Formats: sequence, structure tokens, C-alpha cells
Amino acid sequence: MSSPFSMNLFTVFALLLLGSSYAQLSTDFYSCSCPNVFSAVRSTVKCAIARERRIGASLLRLHFHDCFVNGCDGSVLLDDRGSFIGEKNAVPNNGSARGFEVVDNIKSAVERVCPGIVSCADVLTIAARDSVVIDTQLGGPTWNVKLGRRDARTASQLAANTSIPPPFFNLTNLISNFQAQGLSVRDLVALSGTHTIGQARCTSFRDRIYNETNNIDETFARTRQRNCPRTSPTGDNNLAPLDRQTPTSFDNKYYKNLISKRGLLHSDQQLFSGGSTDSLVRLYSNNPSIFNADLVAAMIKMGDIRPLTGSNGEIRRNCRRTN
Ligand code: HEM
Ligand SMILES: *[C@@H]1O[C@H](CO)[C@@H](O)[C@H](O)[C@H]1NC(C)=O
Ligand SMILES: *[C@@H]1O[C@H](CO)[C@@H](O)[C@H](O)[C@H]1NC(C)=O
Ligand SMILES: *[C@@H]1O[C@H](CO)[C@@H](O)[C@H](O)[C@H]1NC(C)=O
Ligand SMILES: *[C@@H]1O[C@H](CO)[C@@H](O)[C@H](O)[C@H]1NC(C)=O
Repeated sequence: MSSPFSMNLFTVFALLLLGSSYAQLSTDFYSCSCPNVFSAVRSTVKCAIARERRIGASLLRLHFHDCFVNGCDGSVLLDDRGSFIGEKNAVPNNGSARGFEVVDNIKSAVERVCPGIVSCADVLTIAARDSVVIDTQLGGPTWNVKLGRRDARTASQLAANTSIPPPFFNLTNLISNFQAQGLSVRDLVALSGTHTIGQARCTSFRDRIYNETNNIDETFARTRQRNCPRTSPTGDNNLAPLDRQTPTSFDNKYYKNLISKRGLLHSDQQLFSGGSTDSLVRLYSNNPSIFNADLVAAMIKMGDIRPLTGSNGEIRRNCRRTN
């Protein structure tokens, strides 16, 4: 027997399931089919970071560039091949996205323990989490990742050109870019805190260190100019740390840099330039545990962007090409 009340509940539940495309992701998705996936990913990421300190940052950014282009579906990992055009040469990735060989190594390690089970999109999600955790001192953030994504058979260079925010965006642009992905202003400020690790090329911050006057510390600008010549293409690929203080440690110093006008990218400094996000930057700079909690919530939310689930997509064997 079903009262109108229980009918109603059932309907609401069914609608929720249908309406939210990520309802099928879960933290225990591989607990029977591949219980060793976490140790396989973690040990490979650990070795890669031991080999090259920066690689954790690069893996974390790949997950972001995957999720912002038609959802977290491993599309960023597909190579250009014949007439197939992937996302690797799109503007935000070309000459910049890195870590693909490490993703191959992680995927191989996972295939050895459970062949054909774990998607490349999930491998990247776990690797991004592990990168944060390995770069973090005691007391930093960690979280259980939601899994069950499947891999796209398609990619979109156009969407990669237009969906990933460029470093010249102002605060209004950044807020609407994140909003278009279902991410809030708070998510924007917390996720930007991942710029506590990793490096940027001179081309990404040249205009800021030569042309901005109001919102940049003068000594900082001059220091950065020394390794980033004014005229392109000279020095275009010279690197500088996104966090000048602790570039290999995942902490909240990024926000302290913003308060002292030493954000490297124009987009970084936009978060603290007299606008609506100043108060969040202050909050995170004073309160690492609130930053950690918000970062975790925002990373999970980013990982939930429009995944392929059920029988959509496939489980790629090689992350560089469709099966
Ligand atoms: C808010 C908008 C964002 C903009 C405009 C932006 C822009 C950039 C740019 C221009 C670089 C340097 C690329 C280069 O010069 O080669 C970079 C690096 C990086 N970004 Fe972002 N980013 C944003 C958000 C994010 C998010 C949401 C994440 C991750 C959740 C992220 C993670 C990283 C990391 C870890 C690096 C360093 C990568 C490495 O060293 O290989 N960024 N970002
Ligand atoms: C990617 O960068 C290379 C080297 O700078 C360049 O030759 C190529 O035209 C770029 N690709 C696209 C699609 O812009
Ligand atoms: C992406 O942008 C690059 C550089 O502007 C351009 O060469 C390429 O054709 C664009 N891709 C698409 C699919 O529009
Ligand atoms: C931000 O940039 C857009 C163009 O992309 C411009 O229309 C807008 O006026 C800018 N907003 C501010 C506050 O400068
Ligand atoms: C700075 O602004 C000038 C004048 O608008 C422009 O010509 C130049 O390309 C900009 N960038 C740098 C790095 O000087």
C-alpha cells in the first residue's frame, strides 16, 4: 500500500536521481572490483614527485583542465591522431599542460592490478587528491574521492579554448566562468588556493609585472622581471613559482601573497583587489583549517562536474586514445 506521502517521496527521490548527473559517483565505487586502486595510484604519484617535485602540481592542474571541458571525462588526456583533434594543443594547454607520461605510468600500474576496470578520468581524480596530500605538511587537507566516472570517446579543442579561464580574466569574468560550471564564488577562491604549488611561464604573467602599477608590489615586480624579459618571444617559457614563499608545499601562503600584492597572475591578484572576494582571501590567509575544509568541498564539487556514468563512454585502456 502506498500513501500519497510515500508516493511523493519516491517521486522526489527518482527525480533527484535523474536530475543530478553525478548521483552515481561514490567513494566505494571500486571497493569490490579494484580495492587496490588507491595504493597503485598513490605509490606511482609518490615516485613521480620524488623524481620531480613539480609534478604533483601538474597533475592537479590536469584534473582541473579535464573537468572544466565538458566534465571530468578524461578528454584532456587524448592525443591528436590523424583527423582526431584533442585538447592538448588548445590555447590553455599548448606548451603548458604537463604530466601526461606520469598519467600513463599510473594507468599502467592500475591496469596491472585490475585490467579494464578503472577509468582515466578516475585515475586523474585520485592522482590530483594524492598530489595535494603528498605536498601537504601534517595537518593539511585530505578527502575521500568520489569515483565511477567513465571516459569520453570525444574531445573538444574549441571547448578547451573557451572554457578554461585565462590569466588575464578580471574578477567578474572569473566568477561567471566558475558559475557556468556550477561553482560558487567561495569555490573559486578556495580552488585558486591550489596556486600554492606549481609554476607559471613568463607569458602568463608578463603583462602583470610590466604593465600593472596599482595592485602589485614594486619590488616583487622587479624581481620577477629579472627572469621574464619584456619582449616576447624571449624568455616566454621561463618559469616562476605561483607561490613565492613555499612553492612546493600545499599551504595557505598563496593568500598571504595576495594581501601583500605579490600574486603572480593577474587573475590571482583579482581575488584581492578591493572587490567582493577580499574578505574570503583574508579569511583563508588567517585560518588554514577553514581553507582546508573549503578546498576539500570545492575539489569534490569540481570532480562532480558532468561525469559520464552508467553505460556512457568507456573505460579506456590507454589514456591517450579511445579503445
Ligand atoms: C581561477 C582561474 C584560474 C586561472 C586563470 C588559472 C591559470 C593558470 C595559469 C596561467 C597557470 C600557469 C600555466 C603556464 O604558464 O604554463 C596555472 C598553473 C596552475 N594551476 Fe591554475 N588557474 C586557475 C584555476 C586553477 C584551479 C581551479 C586549479 C586546480 C584545482 C589550478 C591549478 C593549477 C596548478 C596546480 C598550476 C601549476 C601547474 C604546474 O606547475 O605544472 N588552477 N594556472
Ligand atoms: C602549439 O604550440 C606550437 C609551438 O609553440 C605551435 O607551433 C602550434 O601552432 C600550437 N598549436 C595551436 C593549435 O595553436
Ligand atoms: C583554439 O585556439 C587556437 C589559437 O587561437 C586556434 O588556432 C584553434 O583553431 C582553436 N581551436 C578551435 C577548435 O577553434
Ligand atoms: C571585466 O572584463 C569584461 C570584459 O571581459 C568587461 O566588460 C568588464 O567591464 C570588466 N569588469 C571590470 C569590473 O573591470
Ligand atoms: C603593456 O602595455 C603596452 C601599452 O598598452 C603594450 O604595448 C604592451 O604590449 C604591454 N605589455 C608589456 C609586457 O609591456
